[in-house]
Amino acid sequence: MPIGMIAATGMIMLVLIGFDQVVDAGQVVTSKPAERDLHSLGNPEQVRVSRVELDLSVDFEKKELQGTATLAFRRMPGCPPGTPLDLDTRDLKIERVTAGGNDDAMHEVRFELGHEAANPARPESELKWERLLGTRLRIFVPDQATRVQVTYRTAPTASALQWLDPPRTAGRKKPFLFTQSEAIHARSWIPLQDSPGVRITYAATIHVPEGLSAVMSADHLAGQAGQAGQAGARFEMTQPIPPYLIALAVGDLAFRALSPRTGTYAEPSVVAAAASEFVDTEAMIKAVETRFGPYRWGRYDLLVLPPSFPFGGMENPKLTFATPTILAGDRSLVSLVAHELAHSWSGNLVTNATWRDFWLNEGFTVYLERRIVEDVFGPDRAAMEAVLGLRELREELAAFPPRDQVLHIDLSDRDPDDGMTRIPYEKGALFLTTIEHAFGRERFDAFLRAYFDHFAFQSITTAEFERYLQDQLLQTDPAAAAKLNVQAWLHEPGLPPGFPEPKSSRFTVVATAAQDWIDGKSSAEQLATQGWSTHEWLHFLQALPLELPPEKMTALDKAFALTATGNSEITQQWLLMAIRNHYSPADARIEEFLTSIGRRKFLMPLYGELKKTAEGTTRARAIYAKARPFYHPIAVESVDRLLGTP
Ligand code: BES
Ligand code: ZN
Repeated sequence: MPIGMIAATGMIMLVLIGFDQVVDAGQVVTSKPAERDLHSLGNPEQVRVSRVELDLSVDFEKKELQGTATLAFRRMPGCPPGTPLDLDTRDLKIERVTAGGNDDAMHEVRFELGHEAANPARPESELKWERLLGTRLRIFVPDQATRVQVTYRTAPTASALQWLDPPRTAGRKKPFLFTQSEAIHARSWIPLQDSPGVRITYAATIHVPEGLSAVMSADHLAGQAGQAGQAGARFEMTQPIPPYLIALAVGDLAFRALSPRTGTYAEPSVVAAAASEFVDTEAMIKAVETRFGPYRWGRYDLLVLPPSFPFGGMENPKLTFATPTILAGDRSLVSLVAHELAHSWSGNLVTNATWRDFWLNEGFTVYLERRIVEDVFGPDRAAMEAVLGLRELREELAAFPPRDQVLHIDLSDRDPDDGMTRIPYEKGALFLTTIEHAFGRERFDAFLRAYFDHFAFQSITTAEFERYLQDQLLQTDPAAAAKLNVQAWLHEPGLPPGFPEPKSSRFTVVATAAQDWIDGKSSAEQLATQGWSTHEWLHFLQALPLELPPEKMTALDKAFALTATGNSEITQQWLLMAIRNHYSPADARIEEFLTSIGRRKFLMPLYGELKKTAEGTTRARAIYAKARPFYHPIAVESVDRLLGTP
């Protein structure tokens, strides 16, 4: 082979493998081989986007965002001349693309949306994969260009956007819009390189109709809410974040301060309840800061969304999005706040580089969440939550095939949203707890603190974590390290033996009460349930036999008014029992719950339980037909898969 060709081949290889640059204070300090993100069609190994500036108008009538995204990018070392810029999009209508240098004027450039050689004869599996990833936007940028501007509009069906008509909000008078970009939905409202390994800063100007306010996962610089067509509200995120953390909500929003740096947004009729539920937020931040290093994002606010929000919470930086179903009135469900707050370290500061590494986000976060709960609410509550978590984990390990039980999960040919089981969360947290026990809390805390400092504002893979763990902890104490089977924890299904099993003495008392009632030793009224927390109630209900005779169901409901409870977690547990045992007095509540709450974690088990009988399936489909227009696209997608599209 001629030398020239070898050199050329070498260069192509280099570009194909790609290098991730580690940037420290603006200086490139090292290069490391990148692991490819299968869930992006972008080419950051060659041309990498570093900043996005949005100027968007929010049109509730058309249910579309319309405007421009201006992207700054740089060519990576070894990138051959003529290399285009590849972005992710899904269902975006691209109107115009211009490009230019930093100071030059922008000129219209050629672009290509989708695969040039789309071959209709391709196998269904390939087409499905493409539908999942969306459409590549290839922009033919001149070699000296450093910026592109894309003029575009979103589709009314954009997977990241939920447009709520006024009746779907608490106030019922004004519409509401919110985004949910994790895992790969940012591309449905912004053309960008939608990979968690590509960190960007962002700025946005948002124009909203009169009387509505916009909030984002960024600093709010200026601009009054609701000045349609005028200056708009301006936002800036100066720290480099992965694209799935870009977030926007627009609605009739009120704000209550909780402490100088924390507060809560919600619709006016909800904001007082939210402020009362979230009083411990500042204490939670201090708890993490003491152990794991400073909170680096300035403000920490919470936004309570309308009930169709498909998740419990989403850790959008500076502004957690939360479901109203955690407003129990007694602060018993605020471990969700601890969880989303903890992501300010695990996830937002140190980010999973690909969706295979999702456990690095969620396992670490559940571990931190439990540490916060322990510090702020005491070890009893943390222990109860750990026991409930392990129970859920065991149920899922029993239900999922081996390949789904692995922390470093193989997601080739899969939707990353399919990886969102309890396994990365609870198995990941249990792995970290196991390390903590092997090395002692003091050494493990020091390790974690150093980990967050070392990888701050970087996206890392499981392999990088393993290397760091080896160098910084395992190597320092081979005897302790010998107790750990890291390979089994990260790369094998099931639970390795020898982990510290969480125990709760309060649950022991509850279990005895449950047994006494089952054995008929005491009536429901005679049980010592005074002072039971939500957790104890959940444990009690879970300790009961799956099948209960009608008189037992009636007795429970009579004694504890379970059909009428306002606590969403207890309601969910009770309604599962009601469906299983054909307890018809709860029928109306089942329908009410499923048509008023869109949180997927509640919907899926309830519809799943209904689906187990023919009569239940008919009921599930009837309820779903009513509820579907109210659910978020992400929830619709999941329930459609379960029940069939109506
Ligand atoms: N980041 C997740 C939510 C998420 C994960 C959205 C993957 C899309 C794809 C968030 O931090 C989370 O885990 N939320 C949980 C609540 C938490 C207390 C376990 C949820 O929504 O159920
Ligand atoms: Zn999480």
